[in-house]
Parts: sequence; C-alpha cells; structure tokens
Amino acid sequence: MSDTNSRFGVEIIGSGLCLPESRLTNHDLEECMETTSDWIVKRTGITERRRADQANGERTSQISTKAIQNALDDAKISASDLDLLLVATMTPDSPTPSVGCIVADRIGAGKIGAMDINAACSGFVFTMSIADALIKSGAYKTIGVIGADCITRFIDYSTAGRGAAILFGDGAGAMIFRRSESQAQGMIAHRMHSDGEGGKHLFIPSSLLDFPENFEFDENAINRVQMNGKAVFKFAVNKFQQVIADTLEDAGISPEKVDHYVCHQANLRILDSARERFGIPEEKLLVNIHKYGNTVAGSVPLVYAELMESGKIKPGDLVMFLAFGAGLTWGSSLWQL
Ligand code: COA
Repeated sequence: MSDTNSRFGVEIIGSGLCLPESRLTNHDLEECMETTSDWIVKRTGITERRRADQANGERTSQISTKAIQNALDDAKISASDLDLLLVATMTPDSPTPSVGCIVADRIGAGKIGAMDINAACSGFVFTMSIADALIKSGAYKTIGVIGADCITRFIDYSTAGRGAAILFGDGAGAMIFRRSESQAQGMIAHRMHSDGEGGKHLFIPSSLLDFPENFEFDENAINRVQMNGKAVFKFAVNKFQQVIADTLEDAGISPEKVDHYVCHQANLRILDSARERFGIPEEKLLVNIHKYGNTVAGSVPLVYAELMESGKIKPGDLVMFLAFGAGLTWGSSLWQL
C-alpha cells in the first residue's frame, strides 16, 4: 500500500507518444515465415506493428526523445522544469550511456538525474510507482517518465522465431508527474513482483553463458528473443488476474469502482481473460494491440496517451495501470487522478 502520510499528492500533467513510421503487417510476415494473418489475428488480435528503422537512427533514445517532448508540450512546461528523468526500457541503444542521460541532454533538461530502469514489459508501471514515491517524499517536484523499447532488432523473422516475431513491435510513451497540493491525488495502491526462476521462459541471450540450464546452445539464438509461448501465456493469464485482485483488495474497492484499466498489450486473449473474470466492460479497458503489437515498456504509456487524446479519461478518475513480462515481472499502480 502507498504511504498516505505524505504532505503531497501527485498529478499526471501530460502524456505523449512516439511510434516509428514503418509498419510491419501480418501480410509482410506471411512473406518471410510460415504463418497466416488469420492465425495471428485469431491467436493474438494483432494485425500490424511498427518497426524502428535502426539504420537511419531510429533507436530507443530517438523515439524516447520525441515521446517526452510531446508529453512536455501536452503539460505546457519545458524540459528545464523537470528535476528527474526515468526511462523504463530493456533495449537501450547500448549498455551505456543510458537512454535517460541521452534524452535529458537532447531535450535540454540540464544536469538533472537521469537513468534507465529495466523491468521489461512491467518497467513503466514499476517506474510510475517509483516516481510517485519520490515526489511524495518531498525530494522531487516534477518527474518525466518514459517507457520505450525497440525490441524488433532482437527478433528472428524466420519460421524458427515466429512465436515472438508476430507479437512484438517498437514504440514509446511518456508521462509527466508533478507534486500536487491535493493529497487525494496520486497512487493509492501498487504491487511489484518478480520471479527470476521463470526468467527462462522469455529471454534474450547475449552469449553462451546466458542459456538457462537444460537449454541446448544455439548460435542463431544469440541476441534473439527466446520465448516459451505456452508457459508465458499461462503465467500472464494467472498473474494478471492475481495482481488485479490483490490491488483491489489493498485499496479496499470492488472492480467496478475503477474507471479505466490501462493494461499492457501482450495478447488480446490475455486481456479478455481478465475482462471476463472481473466483469470489466470494453469501454473501461482500451485495446490497441491490433495496431502496435506488444511494445514492451512502451505499451502502457501508449494506451494512456491514446485515452487522453480521445478525451476518455477525466480528472478525478480512478485508473489502474497493469503490466507483466520478462524477468518474469508483474505489477500494478492504482491512481486517483
Ligand atoms: N503462425 C502459425 N502457426 C504458429 C505460429 C505462427 N506465428 N506460432 C506457433 N504456431 C503453431 C505451433 O507450431 C503449433 O503447431 P503444432 O500444433 O503443429 O505444434 C500451433 O501453432 C500452436 O502453437 P502454440 O504455441 O500452442 O500456440 P498458442 O495458441 O499458444 O499461441 C502465442 C502462440 C505465442 C501467440 C501464445 O502462446 C502467446 O501469446 N503467449 C504469450 C506470449 C506473450 O505474451 N509474451 C510477452 C509477454 S510480455
């Protein structure tokens, strides 16, 4: 549970997104692997995804820069108003410098603290809970949080890699968090979980050393997403529902009290399983997976930015942010806007 003794609340004052121009449709995938568009739509709900043009400089730092700039414009503040920048990503341009440092410099944020946080698809949800705590502690006033990944550079677009190839796309979203004098605003409950033992079901090996026990070493798997789709599906359905139930219990509310469920987009069937269990109507759980696929840490802020753009989220709404992913990781962040 969140500490309610803080003198401050936290408000979300802006959001923005950035998607690479290039589209990779199911029909494009039919050309390079044994699959069909019908199969992909039926099993995942995805019809296309975006793919960053790495060769022309479209990298995680670049889409992150655009997303946070759009969020700053939306909030009507400038980069120099930020006093911390956090980037949820598992695909930085390179191990160092961090995407945070690159972006802080590019947007002209000055010498503020900037760093990356890696919790795969759960990264943005974890980081927004961290931002809330840092603001409520009194240490920071305005924090920019980005969720961004260019995962397609780790995908094998051949039949051997088709399980993961159909799912993932590139994208970035960002939000600006600011201290509020209203203590009612901000995060009211959250969960962060991990299970390293289950990490073997979804990983990207950099070398022989990264292969889990009992995995046969395969040179073609280096720097390519390795996924046991069935095991991840089971984990996701189970933990996604569990974390919703736990968060509702922590907050002492029933499912219908939540105005919007802003969920990681991994597979339409996983989203539907939670909707059915908790009786969540379609208008409370935005689905955009058909357009973007699974954009890893970009997924949750992309959904939020689209909801804000369409005017569906209103001041005072109760919003539950939810994600699960590699690590394995899963978590929630329940906000009173
Ligand atoms: N196109 C066509 N056929 C495919 C395929 C593809 N892209 N991928 C797998 N298949 C085949 C399999 O080879 C298998 O054939 P077989 O029965 O002859 O052996 C059949 O389809 C069923 O495979 P299975 O793995 O059981 O499919 P599935 O219904 O579990 O769907 C996923 C596969 C990857 C879509 C699904 O497991 C999934 O979404 N898992 C969760 C992944 C996820 O969310 N990852 C990110 C977490 S953040």
